[in-house]
Amino acid sequence: MSAPSATRLPTDLAVDTSPIVLTPATGTDLDDIWRAVVPETRVRANDVHLPMSLAYAERLCAVHPEADSLLVRVTILLHDTGWGRVDEERIFSEGFSGDWRKAQIRFEHERQGCLIAQEVLPPLGYDAEFVERVVTIIDGHDTRQYSKSLEDTLVRDADRLWRFDYAGIAVAASWFRLDPSTYADRLETEILPELLTEAGHTIAVAHLARSRALLKTDVLR
Ligand SMILES: [Fe+2]
Ligand SMILES: [Fe+2]
Repeated sequence: MSAPSATRLPTDLAVDTSPIVLTPATGTDLDDIWRAVVPETRVRANDVHLPMSLAYAERLCAVHPEADSLLVRVTILLHDTGWGRVDEERIFSEGFSGDWRKAQIRFEHERQGCLIAQEVLPPLGYDAEFVERVVTIIDGHDTRQYSKSLEDTLVRDADRLWRFDYAGIAVAASWFRLDPSTYADRLETEILPELLTEAGHTIAVAHLARSRALLKTDVLR
């Protein structure tokens, strides 16, 4: 999915492009959900990806006040927990090689993520309608080629933005067995064009430039 600049969702509000470490996710209202999925965060660097993506999601919500921010925040927190319930070997043998976006293991982590949301949210007081909205976004979040809603769009961008930070480059480059310079190039050519919001694009460009300078990707190639 590629979004030409003309079709990216605009915002009139000022976008915070500062390093994400300066604005961790706020509040403690989601802490009970975090506690319910600790084992599922111990897989595939979810304990880095999910908190970082939540912080990015909150930045996107700040400039899209029309979105249901609770829905975005809960969904991004849970979206990849399904990786915790699939065969870990296959995550790397199938999930990061060949046509990895269409690998069967990807559909499985989406399905498992939906089940986890349905399992952990109701006992914490989230009603059936809210849970259904969460599941609707988690279902197909990697394999579906289109966004279903504004909240889905913000989740999709938050899911990608963490990779533009140097921590995301470090983690994801090792997944794909690429050096940081090559992975940064891939971010620019493949992931940047997928961003659906103007805010997300602006944040990504600023973060990628900083990460490239820090990691000296112009020389270390
Ligand atoms: Fe995913
Ligand atoms: Fe993800």
